[in-house]
Amino acid sequence: MADTTSGTTSGPAAQKSIAVPLGAFAAGAVVALLLGVFAKVNDPTLDGTTTLGFDDVRDMKVALSTVIGVLAVGQVIGALWIYGKLGIKAPSWLGMAHRLSGTVALLLAVFVGYHCIWAFGFQTGTTEHGYEVPLRGVVHEVAGCMVFGAAVIKVVAVRSKRAPGWFLPVAGGLLFSLLIVAVLTSAGWYLTEYGWPS
Ligand code: HEM
Repeated sequence: MADTTSGTTSGPAAQKSIAVPLGAFAAGAVVALLLGVFAKVNDPTLDGTTTLGFDDVRDMKVALSTVIGVLAVGQVIGALWIYGKLGIKAPSWLGMAHRLSGTVALLLAVFVGYHCIWAFGFQTGTTEHGYEVPLRGVVHEVAGCMVFGAAVIKVVAVRSKRAPGWFLPVAGGLLFSLLIVAVLTSAGWYLTEYGWPS
């Protein structure tokens, strides 16, 4: 009879290790923290940025973030579908479409996040231009930094064969929830206030 008490059983189930998610969460926290610290100490500048033909960097970020938001919502719905939570059988192409749109959303987020960190930084209190940073802005900055920590966690979850089964859905849910918060507190707010950028 197999020894199930000593922790020495072989087979796939015995390989699973809680150390994988714990290590990934620690690495993700460090990444998010380092980004926040860099954004705070770096002098914001428009050098090395692009508007992609929009009036300014902010308008460009609003437009791309709207695309990110739509893709992020699609990711959550796609994941629920794949995990059989919608009560309809998922089509065979869904897994590939899910991976593709998730990758595009993340690449766009890196592009927009770079423009935020580099050109705006981590603003708190009252800026030197007399702008009182709203709570919305601080929530946006914190969620924005956490997005990239969560991206690290998600990559580990996708790659690791030793992670417990709950890790991938939790990592994916965390990443796309944070992405949606970052988008709603920036592009969501902007579109409500000013409408679509020119
Ligand atoms: C997923 C990542 C991110 C996305 C999609 C994103 C998106 C945006 C968008 C669309 C805007 C323009 C609308 C607005 O002014 O609120 C914006 C502004 C801003 N973002 Fe981000 N951002 C991200 C990450 C970050 C990070 C990591 C930081 C800094 C730590 C940051 C700091 C800012 C600041 C300071 C503004 C200007 C706020 C203002 O003008 O009042 N963002 N962001």
